[in-house]
Amino acid sequence: IEANITLLPEHTKSISDLLIGVFFEDINYAADGGLYAELIQNRDFEYKLSDTKNRDTTWTSTKAWYINPEAMTIVINNDTPIHKNNPNYAVIDVKKAGYGLINKGFDGIPIKKDEAYNISLFAKSYNKEIKHLNIQLKDENGTIIGQTLLKNIGNTWGKYKGVIKATQTVNNAIIEIAPNTTGKLALDMISLFPQKTYKNRPNGLRKDLAETIANLKPKFVRFPGGCVAHGDGIDNIYKWKNTIGNLEERLPQPNIWRYHQTVGLGYFEYFQFCEDINAEPLPVIAAGVPCQNSSTGGHGQQCGVSMDDMDSYIQDILDLIEWANGGVNTKWGNIRAKLGHPKPFNLKYIGIGNEDLITDVFEERFTMIFNAIKEKYPEITVIGTVGPFYMGTDYEEGWDVATKLKVPMVDEHYYQPPGWFINNQDFYDSYDRSKSKVYLGEYAAHVPNRRMNIQTALAEALYLASVERNGDVVSMTSFAPLLAKHGHTQWNPDLIYFNNTEVFPTVDYYVQQLYGNNYGETYMSSDIKLSNQDAKVKQRIASSVVKDSKTGDLILKLVNVLPVEVNSNINLNNIVANGLDATLTVLQGQPNDEHQKPVTSTIKVSNAFNYKMPAYSFSIIRFKSN
Ligand code: AHR
Repeated sequence: IEANITLLPEHTKSISDLLIGVFFEDINYAADGGLYAELIQNRDFEYKLSDTKNRDTTWTSTKAWYINPEAMTIVINNDTPIHKNNPNYAVIDVKKAGYGLINKGFDGIPIKKDEAYNISLFAKSYNKEIKHLNIQLKDENGTIIGQTLLKNIGNTWGKYKGVIKATQTVNNAIIEIAPNTTGKLALDMISLFPQKTYKNRPNGLRKDLAETIANLKPKFVRFPGGCVAHGDGIDNIYKWKNTIGNLEERLPQPNIWRYHQTVGLGYFEYFQFCEDINAEPLPVIAAGVPCQNSSTGGHGQQCGVSMDDMDSYIQDILDLIEWANGGVNTKWGNIRAKLGHPKPFNLKYIGIGNEDLITDVFEERFTMIFNAIKEKYPEITVIGTVGPFYMGTDYEEGWDVATKLKVPMVDEHYYQPPGWFINNQDFYDSYDRSKSKVYLGEYAAHVPNRRMNIQTALAEALYLASVERNGDVVSMTSFAPLLAKHGHTQWNPDLIYFNNTEVFPTVDYYVQQLYGNNYGETYMSSDIKLSNQDAKVKQRIASSVVKDSKTGDLILKLVNVLPVEVNSNINLNNIVANGLDATLTVLQGQPNDEHQKPVTSTIKVSNAFNYKMPAYSFSIIRFKSN
């Protein structure tokens, strides 16, 4: 097949430079046991059967903790907690000296030779003879691979800290906390962190996973969900105020995906991560209604926060904006400063609602929240949900609400098979530019439970070319979900898989990365003439040209979802110098390939040049400005 591609430099328009972002949700163990670098599972003894809706009977307050029953006993008490938000603590009674409480982490504790680990815990001794705690990391044979002593344990609650230097690399180590002698001891908030976290932040993020996300160069990070944001019933709505401050003061809660959230990765850490990777923070807050699929009290979303409670619910949202942006002289800006961040976070966007059914209950609450934010913080862009996407409805009711209220941006979600994305490249062509802008907040070309491959990746690459073309109405997009831990996956497929020691980006990850690294603020039209006029052929080839004003580079993206090479004659209409060096990056493979990676080379180009798009490929040609 032959293609003549001609650039039309006189046909340009401004487009959003925030098109590629990430959607972070604590699903698939994305936070605890995932991005959040804490290595101890159930550090707070707050796991509860209700976290799992009783499906897993081992899910109790001693989950992941072990003892030798011949040497000691363990009970969980809650009469004198270190904080009311963390009522449970463990009391061990050691009968044989040398034995202690053991934690096996999230499927084992991954330890690296020569690296340092911070241990911290709260302890209270009931026995004067207990002077110190031996903290030991051990491999599966019981060999010690690192240890430290926590000294001077008192008889009232105190916090103790130490550092362990590892002598071996062991992927499934355990940690044992043993008093120097027999006796009774209370323990809580037992935490072990690698010192090497992303940007070495305390209470920080797992370095390799955070780097993989950062390498997408996302322009924004949406958090904390997804369904996690609006929660499983009213009591489970995610409340940002419960997720900041000292770890023992945060309020852990069941996760709608049926496990436990420590909220150790909370709003401060989310905002800090955004700042560290130069991405806009995009918190999403429930619109006063829980998830319509809630197992309790949410069905059909007939329930919402009661009108008596709406004022304080709205105040929490306004407080969030003050916490993020207020000066240190404001109440919440001061709280942010005391947490270690005197400079404002510069919040610009806030999502209200997540894929909610557009009922009267929703509309009433959304309107109250929207009006309150608009009045107090008119500079904040509120992103409203337009509901779940059911084929044929086109989010009509959600758009009606957004249009009536003049909501600046709406959040659309769709998970569809690759063919849908190929067939719907005109989805945004006819969107009314005078109405709300669009944030495509969740999408993926997928077949449920089938792995991502070149077919899904290229369907997304093709569709994103149409998003760039419509970058005057689509302002942001984020593939979903972002992370999934092997063995703990509730939703498949996802963008990045991982286990305790490795990260496995999918081919679709590379499409996101190529778009994220090759954005522009000016879209330039191009004309494609194909030798084959068959509609099915035409729809499988796309081009998109953008200009990045910071570098002055012109970027040409070419997608070929055909099983044959396309011989393209590219005419740049004299906008680049002849004999220029360009960078060519190509992702290609067979439709079922899952492990392809992009390959980059340098090519010489002139204003008219020939490029053979390989079969099943996504190519990016970046013309350097000088
Ligand atoms: O991305 C997974 C889930 O899909 C999100 O939590 C929810 O918003 C959507 O239904």
